[in-house]
Amino acid sequence: MNPNHPQHIAIIMDGNGRWAEKQGFPRIRGHEMGVRRVEEIIRAAQDEGIKYLTLYAFSKENWQRPQAEVSFLMGLLSQYLDQKLKEMKKNNLVFNAIGELRDLPEPIQKKMAEGMRDTRQNTGLVITFAFSYSSRREIAEACRKIAGEVLKGLIKPEEITEQTLSEHLYTANLPDPDLLVRTSGEMRISNFLLWQISYAELYVTEKFWPEFTREEFLAALDAYGKRERRFGQIL
Ligand code: IPE
Ligand code: IPE
Ligand code: MG
Repeated sequence: MNPNHPQHIAIIMDGNGRWAEKQGFPRIRGHEMGVRRVEEIIRAAQDEGIKYLTLYAFSKENWQRPQAEVSFLMGLLSQYLDQKLKEMKKNNLVFNAIGELRDLPEPIQKKMAEGMRDTRQNTGLVITFAFSYSSRREIAEACRKIAGEVLKGLIKPEEITEQTLSEHLYTANLPDPDLLVRTSGEMRISNFLLWQISYAELYVTEKFWPEFTREEFLAALDAYGKRERRFGQIL
């Protein structure tokens, strides 16, 4: 692996709807194209020897979209899991899902649980999808769990550290992202991995997600390679 590459890349896959509207298609065509890009980027990440890839696919706030769009997205997700989980198992990928998975339709929850179980022993790229995800809720839940442990006497308040909080997040088993990519030009985080991206390098491209090809991905890696990460120190 190229030592200048990030170990963990997180991506806010934004702009499907605008991409579709730009060419006079309904928004859902953008989501279909978006799935193709997911495939392409997973393959590119594998080829580049990236260890962790985390994709923001559906936020807690996205439930407030029109019912027809939400249903379409759930259908796409279900189809994606049917088609890809077996392939992931065979290709040595680890499938992971974070977010409030209980909000998702039950058949999807079941497929995800099976996918996580069946790929757990794999050793390649860890691909994490964020569904019904809200970073603020994740942090609030972590606090609730820690408070419960304090009440049970398992931990003392003065023993709570940053590490304790990290270990109670959905991402407990993942290192923090080194690089956060957002497509479609928006300069915001939209409630994604607020705690975990403290020192991530940010890369925003004007390309809509359906336009984010392997070349665009490599351009993001290239830009990352030129950054000087200082972590508050003087180098
Ligand atoms: C990202 O594209 C996909 C999801 C949030 C599900 P959008 O659907 O947000 O597309 P835009 O941002 O409206 O163009
Ligand atoms: C963020 O995109 C969520 C995902 C990409 C899944 P949104 O389109 O929902 O974010 P806003 O509304 O532009 O902040
Ligand atoms: Mg959007």
